[in-house]
Amino acid sequence: MKRISVKSEKHVILTGDRPSGPLHLGHYVGSLRQRVELQHKNKQFIIIADAQALTDNAENPEKVRKNIFEVALDYLAVGIDPAVTTIFIQSLVPELAELTMYYLNLVTIPRLQRNPTVKDEIKQRGFGTGIPVGFFAYPVSQAADITAFKADIVPVGEDQLPMIEQTKEIVRSFNRIYNCFVLIEPKALLSSVPRLPGTDGKGKMSKSLGNVISLCDSADEICRKVKNMYTDPKHLRVEDPGTVEGNPVFAYLDAFDPDKNSLQEMKDQYRHGGLGDVVVKHRLLEVLLAELDPIRARRKEFTQDPAHIMRILKEGTEAAREVASRTLAEVREAMHIDYFVNK
Ligand code: TRP
Repeated sequence: MKRISVKSEKHVILTGDRPSGPLHLGHYVGSLRQRVELQHKNKQFIIIADAQALTDNAENPEKVRKNIFEVALDYLAVGIDPAVTTIFIQSLVPELAELTMYYLNLVTIPRLQRNPTVKDEIKQRGFGTGIPVGFFAYPVSQAADITAFKADIVPVGEDQLPMIEQTKEIVRSFNRIYNCFVLIEPKALLSSVPRLPGTDGKGKMSKSLGNVISLCDSADEICRKVKNMYTDPKHLRVEDPGTVEGNPVFAYLDAFDPDKNSLQEMKDQYRHGGLGDVVVKHRLLEVLLAELDPIRARRKEFTQDPAHIMRILKEGTEAAREVASRTLAEVREAMHIDYFVNK
């Protein structure tokens, strides 16, 4: 995949998360760290995608509601600055739902069935054939999220690439069918750090698999999780040679250890034999806490004033609505369904 340089000119960035649980290290490495960097040089929107979370949590609106607040806290704690980044709640921008209705007509069922991420999620959630229509079609609603803001850059993890592909197709169809240039084709911006595996070494970090380290975990919890982390199962005694590749402890060190030289030395020694897992995990714990302690402290500070958080979300949502409704007016005009507009 070609990497895009987002240095000089100003881009419109849109990205976000489903509020279905607190954010974890996977989110942090995959996207949150980038957002903090990107926010000053670009116009950045962050969507708390509650409507998307409801597509597979229709029976749990309380869970979604509670996590909106938790996710907002995570954002502020990692350094997303509401003075420059617009943080907003998806369901309170109804223009997104309206756009979704129009886009649904531009996408076929077989096209949705091909989405590999949705396919995986359907399997993981055990929907069988009882897939909620809203869940099945959420990539279309995600296209609305992105295009309503005319975002040209979407910083995401690899699992979201199919959504960006789907968005591009919708943009092309829309602009072609309605003979306009209203919608902008977005580009995905991938993190330079590869996706973090779960603490069990399996696949990605995912709350439902119970293999995550959350940004809000206490130091004690992090300590316990690091101690129990999966490593190389063949590395039984300290003298045994160990494997670095696919070993989650080293994957995390790659993502977090600022001292790349000593990390390289540790890897060499581990491969060769003579370096115990306890030592490597100790180093991991040290670098993780160095990064997460200040985040946890800021999170705690923000927790003291919930009204302040709600104000940030309310103001962000109002600002986002203004932008989305401008795009919607253009969309309606292009579709010739702006019936009461005098021309
Ligand atoms: N699908 C994303 C996730 O699961 C959340 C999301 C919703 C999103 N709308 C978006 C991400 C728009 C990027 C752009 O985390």
